[in-house]
Amino acid sequence: MRVDVVRRYQNLLPAHDNHPYRTGAWRPNLTEYNATDLEVVGELPRDLRGVYLRNTENPLLPAIGRYHPFDGDGMLHALHFHEGGASYRNRMVRTAGLEAELAAGAPLWAGIIESPEQSVRPDGWGARTRMKDASSTDVVVHRGTALTTFYQCGDAYRFDPRTLEQTGKETWGGRFPSEWGISAHPRVDEHTGELLFFNYSKQAPYLNVGVVSAAGEVLRTTPVPLPGSRLPHDLAFTEHHVIVNDFPSFWEPGRLARGIHSARYRPDLPSRFAVVPRDGGEPRWFEASPTYVLHFVNAFEEGEEVVLDGYFQHDPMPLPRPDDGPWTPLMRLLDMHALGTRLHRWRFNLRTGATREEQLDDDISEFPSIHGRARGRPYRYVYSMLGEPGWFLFNGLSRRDLKTGATQRYLFPKGVFASEAPVAPRVGSTDEADAYLVTFVSDLNTDSSECQVFDAKELSRGPLCRVKLPERLCAGTHAFWTGAA
Ligand SMILES: [Fe+2]
Repeated sequence: MRVDVVRRYQNLLPAHDNHPYRTGAWRPNLTEYNATDLEVVGELPRDLRGVYLRNTENPLLPAIGRYHPFDGDGMLHALHFHEGGASYRNRMVRTAGLEAELAAGAPLWAGIIESPEQSVRPDGWGARTRMKDASSTDVVVHRGTALTTFYQCGDAYRFDPRTLEQTGKETWGGRFPSEWGISAHPRVDEHTGELLFFNYSKQAPYLNVGVVSAAGEVLRTTPVPLPGSRLPHDLAFTEHHVIVNDFPSFWEPGRLARGIHSARYRPDLPSRFAVVPRDGGEPRWFEASPTYVLHFVNAFEEGEEVVLDGYFQHDPMPLPRPDDGPWTPLMRLLDMHALGTRLHRWRFNLRTGATREEQLDDDISEFPSIHGRARGRPYRYVYSMLGEPGWFLFNGLSRRDLKTGATQRYLFPKGVFASEAPVAPRVGSTDEADAYLVTFVSDLNTDSSECQVFDAKELSRGPLCRVKLPERLCAGTHAFWTGAA
């Protein structure tokens, strides 16, 4: 392995930090690398070509008050599989907020579990306002450019997916919705080249859906009026529709009016889903049983129904556990076992307005990946991450065959945690199953990291090959695969 250090950041975090999401598996990285000629254990598949990208929180500065792991600055990592082997780069997402804080040498904005009033700066970003847009939640590639985004809405920062050169903010020809920004989880339709996005805020209409063309133009933005401020995290789309949501878990309106941002789950209210025509037109609303969904797997059209798959939370607001000590508010809300996240299917009948729903899988899982060409279309395979009980960490992978109900699972050794594992289709393949899964793992036993490649058909056999990385990466979540083309 040839390693060039590009930059080292000063460690500004507390000297004896005991925060569970800034230590251990979540210890942030402070060094940016260009690494080539990476050591490979096993054989790199010749038909694996492209870039595995992973964003995720990597805080460089202490928090104002309490730190929530969704607040941290973004670090983007890229593993490039090419003819000559594999190379790795990583870079901080140099957002306007991070630049300002680095210049000040101190945090300027309070995070999600502190009052915005605590922010030093009266300006800021996001649906909650007066936060830093850390652009640390998600990454997608659209029109050959990687875009990082933030779950509370903000800018989309542009990167070359191979070099990780940062090339400013996305403008979409001057029509970027800069007042609200966009949420994390814009989704790419590989059949049309369009990008579907949403944004939300504390002002009416509270939610919008947008479509960006394959040429990079904002084709339209459709308001989806809600009864009040909500906390959506993801969308799904079909060939003709985008599906967004109004879940009964939101900032309590009475307290919000007094400036207190306190989310409450209201199981007396239904979940509501809006089916919004991609070519404009009025949203159609469907009611379903109360829950909260962090991530949707996919959606597609079947006759007069729109079918939506996602992870239904059976307990969206689990009670705190006293033995979590000072981190009680965080730990249970980040634990997929406490939330009870199970694969679920909703069917919205466009003719009758009725909803049918069913649980698809008993397993606790979340953070899906599917074949990119299957997005928005009928599909068969769902790959999910399995959660370390009690933690926001991934200790395994699963593959659910929706046709047969068969499940394959792979559990990493104890103390080894993975990142989201997107589907990397074999070069030249057309079958949905003919693919690899790619992930970064962080091994606390050896204090090292690897990129691991799995045969998607034979997940339970473990990694086909392992690519060594320069140092142990901070644990992470959202990732994206982009093929060489
Ligand atoms: Fe997410």
